[in-house]
Amino acid sequence: MATVLYPGSFDPLHLGHIDVIEQSVALFGKVIVGVMHNPTKPSTMFTLEERTEMIIASISYLPSVKVVGFEGLAVDAVKQVKAAFIVKGLRTGGDFEVEQQMAHTNHAVSGVRTVYLPCKPALVSISSRFIREIAEFGGDVTSLVPAPVATKLARRFPHNEREK
Ligand code: PNS
Repeated sequence: MATVLYPGSFDPLHLGHIDVIEQSVALFGKVIVGVMHNPTKPSTMFTLEERTEMIIASISYLPSVKVVGFEGLAVDAVKQVKAAFIVKGLRTGGDFEVEQQMAHTNHAVSGVRTVYLPCKPALVSISSRFIREIAEFGGDVTSLVPAPVATKLARRFPHNEREK
């Protein structure tokens, strides 16, 4: 049994993230979902608090998962929560390129290792970016996100007539 950190911006959480969390619980035991700031995405649709609340509401059936918001570096969060390593999900080769660079850099500056988990094939096309885009235009994303996230999005962006 290990404690692992699963960091991300989760803006918002989707079913691909849930898959990675469930896989991490099964493989490692205790998972800390680290809700973080991605400096390459300067503005977010949801505040850190809102993103954290949506994740807590969505993973309540997994008692060994804790959700924590962090302001700084992922490697500092690893040390703070005494996690053994970072876990990341991979959808595509594009993800691998980015994640490999981050993993090498995080290891070089701190010694913290990263383990990759492949997403379920059925979920590889889901992205928070497209969920935000569809929701903002009044589309229905309920097939892509957990129920608490769907509810929050529908409240903020009521579905258009086409969806009713
Ligand atoms: O879900 P995302 O946006 O792909 O997650 C990226 C995230 C938040 C994990 C990454 O930007 C991150 O680790 N941010 C914290 C700052 C940090 O540690 N930067 C160093 C990266 S090598």
